[in-house]
Amino acid sequence: MSTAAPTLRVEHHQQPALGVGEDRPRLSWHVETAPTAYRQGTYEVAWRTTAPDGAGQVRTLEDATAVVESDDQVLVPWPGAPLAPRARAEVRVRTRDGGPDDAGWGPWSEPAVVERGLTAAEWTAELVGPGYDEGPVATRRAPLLRRGFEVPGSVVRSARLHLTAHGLVEAELNGRRVGADELVPGWTPYDDRLRVYAYDVTDLVRPGENAVGAWLADGWFRGRYGFEGGTRDLYGTHVGVLAQLEVVTDAGTVVVGSDASWRSAPGPLTRADLYDGETYDARLLPAGWSEPGFDDAAWAPVVVHPLDRTVLAAPDGPPVRCTGELVPVSVTRAAGPDGEDGWLVDLGQNHSGRLRLSVPAAPAGTVVRVRHAEVLQGGTLYTRTLREAAATDEVVLDGAAITWEPRFTVHGFRYAHLTGWPGGTAQDVAAAVVSRVLHSDMARTGWFASSDPALDRLHENVVWSLRSNFVDIPTDCPQRDERLGWTGDIQAFAPTAAFLYDVHGMLADWLRTLSSEQRRFGGTVPVYVPWIPGGRFWRPEQDVAGWGDAATLVPEALHRDSADVGLLERQYASAVAWVDKVSGLAGPGRLWDAGMQLGDWLDPTAPPEDPLRAQTDPHLVATAYLARSARAVADLARALGRDDDAARYATLAAEVAAAYRGRYVDSGDPTHDTQTAHALSVVFGLLPDEDARRRAGERLAELVRAGGNTVGTGFAGTPLVADALSSTGQLDAAYGLLLSHASPSWLAMVDLGATTIWERWDSMLADGTVNPGEMTSFNHYALGSVADWLHRVVAGLAPLEPGYRRLAVAPRPGGGLTRAEARHVTPYGVAEVAWAIEAGGEGDELVVRFRVPVGTTAEVDVPGAAPAVVGHGEHEVRVPARAAQAPVEARTTSVG
Ligand code: BGC
Repeated sequence: MSTAAPTLRVEHHQQPALGVGEDRPRLSWHVETAPTAYRQGTYEVAWRTTAPDGAGQVRTLEDATAVVESDDQVLVPWPGAPLAPRARAEVRVRTRDGGPDDAGWGPWSEPAVVERGLTAAEWTAELVGPGYDEGPVATRRAPLLRRGFEVPGSVVRSARLHLTAHGLVEAELNGRRVGADELVPGWTPYDDRLRVYAYDVTDLVRPGENAVGAWLADGWFRGRYGFEGGTRDLYGTHVGVLAQLEVVTDAGTVVVGSDASWRSAPGPLTRADLYDGETYDARLLPAGWSEPGFDDAAWAPVVVHPLDRTVLAAPDGPPVRCTGELVPVSVTRAAGPDGEDGWLVDLGQNHSGRLRLSVPAAPAGTVVRVRHAEVLQGGTLYTRTLREAAATDEVVLDGAAITWEPRFTVHGFRYAHLTGWPGGTAQDVAAAVVSRVLHSDMARTGWFASSDPALDRLHENVVWSLRSNFVDIPTDCPQRDERLGWTGDIQAFAPTAAFLYDVHGMLADWLRTLSSEQRRFGGTVPVYVPWIPGGRFWRPEQDVAGWGDAATLVPEALHRDSADVGLLERQYASAVAWVDKVSGLAGPGRLWDAGMQLGDWLDPTAPPEDPLRAQTDPHLVATAYLARSARAVADLARALGRDDDAARYATLAAEVAAAYRGRYVDSGDPTHDTQTAHALSVVFGLLPDEDARRRAGERLAELVRAGGNTVGTGFAGTPLVADALSSTGQLDAAYGLLLSHASPSWLAMVDLGATTIWERWDSMLADGTVNPGEMTSFNHYALGSVADWLHRVVAGLAPLEPGYRRLAVAPRPGGGLTRAEARHVTPYGVAEVAWAIEAGGEGDELVVRFRVPVGTTAEVDVPGAAPAVVGHGEHEVRVPARAAQAPVEARTTSVG
């Protein structure tokens, strides 16, 4: 076997990486297959950097190679000169062993492309918005902006559009849409950081007459969203587009920026709102408005809005896009929530997205209205849980047939109810409707499967809740009037997310926002980020355990998966500031026992009207989290070579743990006898010794059994409870809980038809009615954090060193499962563990087949087999099934 060509990546960007912010982007590669003896000893990078010279020529700036003796292949330094704005590099890499088994250079990778975006100084365009009186909010129409322009010469060599907005923007060039990104520029605190997206529009521009246009909408900038009716105009009262089109032709470079020469007019969107939905009136579309030759004399001028260009920044993660389509599984005639007659469409899957309708011709003025909901009650769309989000889209026909999809809204739903549909049968409607699934366009990197279909459905539900809630920022839910970056939810879910999708760019971007909001609020990490007014209940200065700890635990989870030390470096100050803030609150006693806490939010005993009323003392949870985060900072400091800090925070962690024991542990045993108290004590390492851990595990198992294998944990305990059991010799109890169908449990949700993870264990009650509480979403990922345990312990694939450079193959079969497998695209390539109980000559055997990526080693720990360390390649271990059943502890590889 020869060494495969490396697959090359640039930072966490997708290919081609256009408009990046890094001037020295780091490179990573993996080699899928190589001879057994192969070890990378040397790599060679070849790169060619070019940039337009302004006079119509593309000049080569560098054409070089560098040979580096190193076994590193993840996020290695940029080898060349820093990339200037607009510079484009094509990079390739190849590797060789260099040792006694050297077989010479392996093949070159395919070239990866990286192109630097603009810096503040390169911007000549201005932020422009509609120059007419937009009128009152209730009748305000989303504006269109345009201008025509001339491209000289006879050949367009390349063209780039750099685009952002105050509000949301979709650009068109010569009547064609630019790119496929949605909800651009996403949501950041815009006065601090406004992301710019770059598009290769070479194919859309031509010599001669051209036109550029922009659809604009309120979005997060000035739309209504938030608590208790929400707030408008959070970042300003205007909307505006900032666009800079740079066209390189044989006659020189033309720059067409948004400026005072653009024209504006109200567009066909008479309503465009993230929560409430959108109305498109086809009669109001100015035909050909973004094409050359359109007469915009009757349009108004635009207004130039001031903009600090230093806030412009390149995104770290991918934009939101449509990542798939769902077709109806059923269409039936049914009454809507207000008794209105129409078509009830079931997409079969709860998700975030919006419908694309192909509506047949009907008289002008016909209105087709779509309402959305996650669930039905009594066969009818159930919308109470959306609170103040109308989630209603409308298209008004101009007489002709139309294929239409909203532009500037997104809904969380499985069901839709359509009224006003012209004629047709259920089959006609089914053929005319698809849902376009929308979220940040991340690559899938993790899979799990087992012999239990209900467990597989649970895992699938976790994946769908991730997809539904990674919509530019990590949100709590996609449907109701929140959709906020709740820090506690992603704190609980980050390890699971990092396994399932390449969330690194997206969460790194969001962590920038977390840091900047935290700086605004003196070290406090607000309970959601970006911060918006919090109604009667929430203020930005509330320090909340498990929520603010996103500052320490999200970077930790990302680093564990990606080995991105640069991210740690960037987030370090934020992580430290959080722990310093909280240890200041705890004071010399080291107990964080005052102030409002969310504690074990939504534990299953919390009544519908009081999600805070958990069984576990919220201050116990708070001190446990302080110990955990102090230790996380110590670990981050060590990874960054900051040894003094590492020692200081390790001491703090030890002192907090001692204080915790002083208050919540008696003679080695947790005094609070709840699932969450035991789970925190065990997994966060808060007990005095191994013996005490073991006893806590036993007691936890007793509690689980006494509860008839029902879950007793909320947001704090749920990510930990299975590990607390499996790491203390209570694997059977962990499986008992995992595979239980008694309510509340994970599979009880599945039994009630869940297609995503619910916010509360009983979002739907056993009788099929919806929980009357305010906190009743059917699409929250926190309780899905158990999937991390499925990957690491059930299937047995876990990182032992950041980026899986050393990994564990440590499956823990049980619970009657006869098969389980997990696969993850690590930075070194695909790692996989699959086990099955198979009939062998001497009785049943446990067969573990696994794949170790090139560049990594695996510590193999299969029950009943001798431990081993192996290098890359495909491996197999077989042991008699009986031997594999001897009780073994699962290693705690990833939490605590
Ligand atoms: C959100 C949660 C969040 C919680 C904290 C809820 O409204 O949906 O997921 O973490 O509030 O109070």
